[in-house]
Amino acid sequence: MTSTSPYTRTHTCGQLRSSHAGARVTVAGWVDSRREHGDALVFIDLRDREGVTQLVFDLEDCPKDVVDASDKLRGEDVIAASGVVRVRDGGANPKLETGEIEVVVDTLTVLSKAQTPPFHPTDKDSLPNEEIRLRHRYLDLRRPRMQKILRTRHRASKLARDYFDEQGFLEIETPILCKSTPEGARDFLVPSRLQPGAWYALPQSPQLFKQILMVSGCERYMQICRCFRDEDPRADRQAEFTQIDLEMSFVTREQVMDTMEGFARRLWKEVLGVDVPPLPRITYHEAMHRYGVDRPDTRYGLELVDISDIAAKTDFKVFTQALEKRKGAVKAIRIPGGAERLTRKMTDGYSEFVKQFGAGGAPVTKRGEAGFDTGVARFVEPIRAELDERLGLEPGDLVVFGADTFTVCARALGELRQKIARDLGMIPEGAWNFVWVIDFPMFEYDEEGGRWVAMHHPFTAPNPDQLDAFLRADAGDRDAIEGVVSAGYDLVVNGSEIAGGSIRIHDQAVQEKVFRLIGLSDEEAKEKFSFLLDALKYGAPPHGGIAFGFDRLVMHLCGTDNIRDVMAFPKTQIGADLMTRAPGPVDAAQLKELHVVNTAQDKPA
Ligand code: AMO
Repeated sequence: MTSTSPYTRTHTCGQLRSSHAGARVTVAGWVDSRREHGDALVFIDLRDREGVTQLVFDLEDCPKDVVDASDKLRGEDVIAASGVVRVRDGGANPKLETGEIEVVVDTLTVLSKAQTPPFHPTDKDSLPNEEIRLRHRYLDLRRPRMQKILRTRHRASKLARDYFDEQGFLEIETPILCKSTPEGARDFLVPSRLQPGAWYALPQSPQLFKQILMVSGCERYMQICRCFRDEDPRADRQAEFTQIDLEMSFVTREQVMDTMEGFARRLWKEVLGVDVPPLPRITYHEAMHRYGVDRPDTRYGLELVDISDIAAKTDFKVFTQALEKRKGAVKAIRIPGGAERLTRKMTDGYSEFVKQFGAGGAPVTKRGEAGFDTGVARFVEPIRAELDERLGLEPGDLVVFGADTFTVCARALGELRQKIARDLGMIPEGAWNFVWVIDFPMFEYDEEGGRWVAMHHPFTAPNPDQLDAFLRADAGDRDAIEGVVSAGYDLVVNGSEIAGGSIRIHDQAVQEKVFRLIGLSDEEAKEKFSFLLDALKYGAPPHGGIAFGFDRLVMHLCGTDNIRDVMAFPKTQIGADLMTRAPGPVDAAQLKELHVVNTAQDKPA
């Protein structure tokens, strides 16, 4: 038996067309707007997830109780209405999908009255700031744009499940309360009530579980999972975010990359209708040299060019002092036609801009008709011919220089390159430049901490041709360690890292050497990772995987640069959920039960 109610809908608000004329229907949703037309007619735009339908109350024909009720309707009231569909008298409204018709209402049920809301979800002109929208996220999510994003997000997760299912992946859940997994960020901790003084960590990623699943013989794992990293949020980073996490056994780097590339291309095709050609690859080394970052935006030029050899011939102290440093470098960017397009104020600002990345400044000069003629012209004029040739300079170009250690120089000019591209409007609309970045160094030296850190994570294997070199390399031999290339890979689109992964170590001895190198004593390694080291002893298949940043994928698919837009309930810059007011105080009794002492002075427990 079917049960019905006054709000049992026959159609959604996005569904009715002229072909429905004459049909009796029931629709339900939120009052979007109300208009009176003389004394005879009242119009209500009714909105649900699928669209907007015009309701018309013909005051002469309509039952009195319905007229009275319609009189009191206000924006965001929730109603159900029944009546007959008719083709609109005054012609169609081309802005609405249902614009050909209206529903002549004879029955109205008010399901819920709304107070005057702090903002109207479909009034674009009075959209308040993000703080107010987040506080009233239920209203914010009613906006058609947000509904579209939620739908795209669902579509992307369904496509992921379908694609990886076709490829033989099993979706397997892994624990949320677990032991710390090192992805390089701070852990969120949860105290154990049953074991006083012991703590769980929330997973920074399911990295070790998915590896263990490979040792368990699962062969292909996938999970759309939550990850937790206690780090400061940014435009594309949240402390709590979602990954499409994957792992495969008996595969090479190429096989993993091909499988993942297939997914990215399917996603872009099905969601955006974009055919992404096979993805190019670039080595980490080349990315750092040409773009100054390991997630290069290849949509525009402005590439960094190394001019250290030429710069060494000048007596410009900025250059020569940089070249005296360990791994010192001088680099330059040619800004075509920059002399006309950039003001002095802007280029002065560039010197300030690069200081936040550790550089001393960003000297600039202009290539005039006869030679360099502004800024640091006199220092670089002696090497004009060589600079002309190396940078392809033409009159009217600007050249901006960076001089420091390679790392500082690349970082500063890499960031500046992006700023100049934005300033000059050089970033093409609608372009999708994917690139795989491969051949990362296994380790980088943390000068401050005086120790080696794993560039991906410490479970990343050396590239097969590097294994011997790695096993031979002595921890004290900086050049040898720095030279070991890993089997890691990152997927980048338009300068944003959307996925990262690697072939893993499946040999216990190699894993132990990595732990020792990053400063874990054998005892510490055992304490933290004995389960992994043990598992590797009992027959581990070669394996590798990747994780896509799911929120970032959706950001690209929806064309937003704010990660909060693609999460139903995101957190602010200080990790707050403004709607639920998390994090919040807890009872002293609760803390006691958890054996936790609150030491915060300014905030109550
Ligand atoms: P990684 O740390 O590179 O690798 O993360 C994989 C991808 O997740 C996304 N991402 C984030 N998105 C939003 N907010 C964050 N705070 C955040 N941090 C990372 C990025 C990134 O490329 N276990 C490994 C994967 C592996 O080796 O298989 C891992 O988590 O898009």
